[in-house]
Amino acid sequence: EHSAVITIDGPGGAGKGTIARALAQRLGFHLLDSGAIYRLLALASLRDGIAPDDLAGLTRRAEQLDIDFRTDGEHAGEAVLDGQPVANAIRNEACGERASVLAALPPVREALKARQRAFRQPPGLVADGRDMGTVIFPDAPVKIFLTASAEERARRRHKQLMEQGVTASLDDLLTELKARDARDSQRQTAPLRPAEDAVTVDTTGASIDTVVQTVMEQARACL
Ligand code: C5P
Repeated sequence: EHSAVITIDGPGGAGKGTIARALAQRLGFHLLDSGAIYRLLALASLRDGIAPDDLAGLTRRAEQLDIDFRTDGEHAGEAVLDGQPVANAIRNEACGERASVLAALPPVREALKARQRAFRQPPGLVADGRDMGTVIFPDAPVKIFLTASAEERARRRHKQLMEQGVTASLDDLLTELKARDARDSQRQTAPLRPAEDAVTVDTTGASIDTVVQTVMEQARACL
């Protein structure tokens, strides 16, 4: 309960995952990709044919969700659902879109709370998502809110997808990203917003190294 936590919240495509991974590696901390948990629930619900408006069914599925993250070498960080590694199956926009719909349902968020908090273990945790600093770890000593312009975030997503051999239109990505931002920011429960004590870091035009450096300085000053 009392080990250190660094929370990194922000909109999709701001670079949270990349920065969180680099930070966890440097500090030797555990890593929580909370978005992957919502994406895994989305994948499970799509596979099981649970409708996005079946609140009871979704909540039950969230409570029973059997998830893990691999820690071995090149597969480190890969999500595992019901014992099966999911590889890229949760990384497409259909899954992100469904995740953001499910993530707006309060009983679903509630069902996933304890599971996320269980990642807080010595020597420390880097947690990225939307509500890590506001709801899940409100007592975190280091809170970062990572942003970038919508255009830059869409370009990054586009590049990432291309590298994975996935074709996507930049315009479509930008439209989807803005729709997801709006849904995540406007929902009643745990909306996307910086915690009052969060430091906002705008990564538009900044290199990964520069951002890691900035966040490391914040962490060193507060841990
Ligand atoms: O960060 P990522 O794109 O993987 O997250 C997918 C979706 O999961 C987000 O759009 C958001 O709706 C939801 N999410 C959330 N709270 C978190 C992490 C993700 O609501 N802590």
